[in-house]
Amino acid sequence: MKELRVGIIGCGGIAQAAHLPHWDGLEGAKIVAVADVVEESARKTAEQYGAEAWYTDFNELIARDDIDAVDVTTPPKWHAPAAIAAAEAGKHVLVEKPMARTVAECDAMIAAAKKSGVVLMVTHHDRFSPMNNKIKQLIDDGLIGRPYEIANVGGMYHMVGAEWFYDKDIAGGGAGMDIVIYTAYMWQYWLGPVKSVYALTDTFEKNHPVFEWWGDGEWDVNITSAPETTVEDSLAMMLRFDSGAVGVLYCSWVSPTGHDRQEILGSDGLIELSGPDGPRIFLKADKGDFKKGWNPITADEGSNIYLDRIAHFVDCIQNGTQPITPGQDGRDAVQLIEAAYRSAAEGKPIELPLS
Ligand SMILES: NC(=O)c1ccc[n+]([C@@H]2O[C@H](COP(=O)([O-])OP(=O)(O)OC[C@H]3O[C@@H](n4cnc5c(N)ncnc54)[C@H](O)[C@@H]3O)[C@@H](O)[C@H]2O)c1
Repeated sequence: MKELRVGIIGCGGIAQAAHLPHWDGLEGAKIVAVADVVEESARKTAEQYGAEAWYTDFNELIARDDIDAVDVTTPPKWHAPAAIAAAEAGKHVLVEKPMARTVAECDAMIAAAKKSGVVLMVTHHDRFSPMNNKIKQLIDDGLIGRPYEIANVGGMYHMVGAEWFYDKDIAGGGAGMDIVIYTAYMWQYWLGPVKSVYALTDTFEKNHPVFEWWGDGEWDVNITSAPETTVEDSLAMMLRFDSGAVGVLYCSWVSPTGHDRQEILGSDGLIELSGPDGPRIFLKADKGDFKKGWNPITADEGSNIYLDRIAHFVDCIQNGTQPITPGQDGRDAVQLIEAAYRSAAEGKPIELPLS
């Protein structure tokens, strides 16, 4: 199999933590070039990973005719420009979540990839979790009967190394585009498309601290700035799926602890994904391998979902398989968040698909 030659666009936090190390160790792939607007980041990353070249303009990386694919890990504002330029140059594209800031940008990315016949994949790593796939299987096998309701309350205290997270123009949104996007993706994977959403957003804390990031690779506790945010730090929404199921969620950047509670209620049982007892299922009666009452849910969590998603991208290119996290699904997750923002702004439920 021909070696896949890759260019990494964006050498910041997630690239260092969950992209570059996995590309580096992957058989059949090679990091050929990297790009970052911060020269020091690009140069240091190229040195560390033995890349042949580094650039401060991603267009120069894309112009190389010896690169087969790019991995876009910039802030969202540059996901569409980089992905479209790469696709037009015939390069396969892996892009971080959120796929882009808006549905319109996502659609332009999908169209460019389709026209060039390249793979376009979004790195929704949750889709590679064996437990999340087990939940999908339990739902599809009818273990809980007809799904009626799904709920998620969660959040985190947002600490990042970059101010752009608080800039609507660059990020596309706040807690919604940053973390509810994962839920938007998984809920539609589990229960199918959403048909309407009513949402409320708020910004409870106007100045979020920004911490130093680059250095020895560890979090530095020095606060470097606390810019005034132009995005929401809290999103609550109620939604209805095409199937008739309803969903309720609140999620924010202002939780003093990282908490996440999620459950799916059906006509015959309840799946509880988190909590002190771990993932478990309650059934009204014996069904399949499960007994009436509470049962633990187990899945082989031995794999590394961050590595698996990159290996899957390579497999899609080399063997012509379809990505399990294609552009279309990334787009549908962005659509739900965009609809939620529209609902919050207009004070009324919004029907999907967005027009
Ligand atoms: N999947 C996950 O678990 C996860 C976690 C964190 C972030 N993310 C996503 O990854 C993306 C990047 O987030 P991050 O936390 O790494 O941010 P970051 O700010 O740490 O890194 C972004 C990097 O992109 C560079 N950059 C900015 N504009 C650029 C341009 N035009 N060309 C080239 N480089 C450019 C910046 O200099 C920076 O080094 C975002 O979309 C974010 O939502 C995903």
